Amino acid sequence: MDLLQISNLYVNFTTKAGVVRASDGVNLEIKQGESLCLVGESGCGKTIVALGIMRLLPQNAQISGKIWFKGKELLSLGKEEMRRIRGREIAMIFEQPATCLDPVFTVGDQIAEAMRVHERCSGKESKEKAIDLMEMVEIPSPQKRFKQYPHEFSGGMQQRAMIAIALSYNPSLLIADEPMTFLDVTIQAQIMELLKDLVSKFRTSLLLITHDLGVAAEMCDGVAVMYAGEIVEKGRVSEVFKYPKHPYTKALLGAISNDGLKPIKGSVPELTSLPSGCKFHPRCPLVRDVCREARPEMKNGVRCHLWEKS
Ligand SMILES: Nc1ncnc2c1ncn2[C@@H]1O[C@H](COP(=O)(O)OP(=O)(O)O)[C@@H](O)[C@H]1O
Ligand SMILES: [Mg+2]
Repeated sequence: MDLLQISNLYVNFTTKAGVVRASDGVNLEIKQGESLCLVGESGCGKTIVALGIMRLLPQNAQISGKIWFKGKELLSLGKEEMRRIRGREIAMIFEQPATCLDPVFTVGDQIAEAMRVHERCSGKESKEKAIDLMEMVEIPSPQKRFKQYPHEFSGGMQQRAMIAIALSYNPSLLIADEPMTFLDVTIQAQIMELLKDLVSKFRTSLLLITHDLGVAAEMCDGVAVMYAGEIVEKGRVSEVFKYPKHPYTKALLGAISNDGLKPIKGSVPELTSLPSGCKFHPRCPLVRDVCREARPEMKNGVRCHLWEKS
């Protein structure tokens, strides 16, 4: 059964420039224990989908659709119940851990506080558990590190601390939004390994948002490719990365250079004035008349007219 099922998720922002269609009918499923990566260029709507699941969208967002999680429809839950789910069942880590850690408390206190709330344990016990958790996320000398403030931690160490906080309540779903973007390449690889190990140890399902296809291939079972607010292709990583169908996926993978598609010409369209038909058509080297006229449906894991008949 699916742990998470998003159906027809629309998120619009009304701005001076017009209506921004950040999520334009997104459908996604994550099975229990599965890792799914959501990939696509910057500005495609990936973060908006994640924030939609968490019900943490900015005030000016208009949202519709259904997000089923363990039999509950998240968009129709009351604020309190949603807070409980956010506190216990779904955790999220962000691109910039520094902005999520409170500068006035020690890192250890922040992990211990998460432990205390979620495990309902005493102060002393929560400190011990926090140190265990710091060890688990491979923060060296956790006894000493416990007493340090966020600014004394490097970016990589801060992200480890965030992972510890996220895992403190053993969530069923962890959403990681570009967690490696601001880290050095070697640190990225370490954090990736760590996340991979922890997800399998805790049997947590993972929604990993990344623009790094190498990371996606390493870490995930499934992949969903997002372009201009839509999922244009989805399937198993082993299938999609080997035999990409959508010209956009191919472009992302840099796979078809012999028929002219170099990675990647042009840019994501303005989400206030989307092209007619297939949103990728202005950048697509394989464009035909039908692509300019009709919006392709998602069929057999791909949203592309060139595949509709096959
Ligand atoms: N509060 C907001 N008001 C208006 N537009 C927004 C707001 N937040 C995000 N957007 C727009 O939504 C689109 C998708 O953004 P985002 O999900 O952050 O993209 P990604 O994570 O794929 O880089 C972008 O065009 C962005 O400008
Ligand atoms: Mg983003």
